Amino acid sequence: MYQDHQGNFACGPFHVAAPLALPPLRVGLLGLGTVGGGTYRVLQRNGNVIAARTGRRIAITMVAVRNRTRAASVVGDDVALVDDPFLIVNHPDIDVVVEVIGGTTLARDLVLRAIANGKHVVTANKALLAEHGAEIFAAAHVQGVVVAYEGAVAVSIPIIKALREGLTANRIEWVVGIINGTTNFILTQMRSHGLGFKAALEEAQRLGYAEADPTFDVEGVDAAHKLTLLASNAFGVPVQFDKVHTEGITALELDDMGLAERLGYRVKLLGIAKRTDHGMELRVHPTLIPDDHLLAQVHGSMNAVLVKSDAAGVTMYYGAGAGSEQTASAVIADLVDVARVAGTRHGDRVPYLAFQPHAVQALPVVPMVDGVTAYYLRMDATDPQLAVPQLRDCLAAANVHVERLEVFATADDTGVSSLVVLTHLARESDIRRVMANLARLPTRVGGVHAIRVESLV
Ligand code: HSE
Repeated sequence: MYQDHQGNFACGPFHVAAPLALPPLRVGLLGLGTVGGGTYRVLQRNGNVIAARTGRRIAITMVAVRNRTRAASVVGDDVALVDDPFLIVNHPDIDVVVEVIGGTTLARDLVLRAIANGKHVVTANKALLAEHGAEIFAAAHVQGVVVAYEGAVAVSIPIIKALREGLTANRIEWVVGIINGTTNFILTQMRSHGLGFKAALEEAQRLGYAEADPTFDVEGVDAAHKLTLLASNAFGVPVQFDKVHTEGITALELDDMGLAERLGYRVKLLGIAKRTDHGMELRVHPTLIPDDHLLAQVHGSMNAVLVKSDAAGVTMYYGAGAGSEQTASAVIADLVDVARVAGTRHGDRVPYLAFQPHAVQALPVVPMVDGVTAYYLRMDATDPQLAVPQLRDCLAAANVHVERLEVFATADDTGVSSLVVLTHLARESDIRRVMANLARLPTRVGGVHAIRVESLV
């Protein structure tokens, strides 16, 4: 596609008259790292096709950077480079601020200042919105400006748009996703290539998937940030990151991944938001899922989100979960949405969290001890003849029912066996009781391991 001197677009053999009725949307970019650089490149490369869709050009006119020399090698002389990001959020010739510097301190100040100055905001910063979303959306509502954040969740997948617009007719029952590319990449490398945790993490960092602080990835915090935003859009609840139960993959043992596989399961780090009769479950943790489930086929840094809703049924969304241009794709889609709101009334726009602000209401969050799921339990023991009945007794005493019990010889030839149980649905408080009792058994060797199991139907 090319643009002739009259501003018309030609596309293949067709000549598409597309006079650009509106002036360009003037974008101030805060940060030119992985996501900022990708956003600039994609806008440069696809500017014409984006303008043909939008009816308006999207022009990055100012960029706030830390290293001007490096930045100049990306954007050349086309845009004004500034060291002080406040120059951008205060500048009268900026219509929309794209915040991709990350963090929650400076980013919060900049976003709130931009909003106070009547500017729209696009951000890929899930930590910022998960922790300060209530304040930011409230401020934006008062000013009548857009805050768009598709790039904050499962980057390339338009899951916010799907929840907020595509599924708007539905009552959503649950949202379950592999929503952290780094940990999915690590789990895939460990399982497929026998790579150690540390080496796999280093590779994820080298590829630009990991957060600036990778403990956010491996401890499940990044997934919890994203789950917070998914839950709000699915259920119309305020953003409440502090209510998410969060476990990462650092305590996960290769032995459990291997044994789970022998039982027909894969281990994935899932974010789960579920509406139950007792409130909402919000949890991030390693989970056994059936190996023939589509989610089990999501490998490497890919993400996938499953949504169960009453009319549409189960829908699934799949795509790259991390990466420069993959995130840029979402950031620019948000910019296009901003370009299209020109001349519209704030109250007629798609609400920030899918529900009208007055309809956003908290639901009680079910405490983890009251949650009900199936479990995988492993205990290693010296004498399985003795240990199996003891294990059964501990489970029966807590009223936890066994679906399957297997004994596997451990690989190291020490005479120790792994006793593995798959339970029926059980209360977490009962499972904790079982674990405490198992820990007291004299035949036990090492710790007692528990991983929740989801059937995803
Ligand atoms: N660190 C994030 C991940 C990047 O690995 O998913 C995208 O949000």
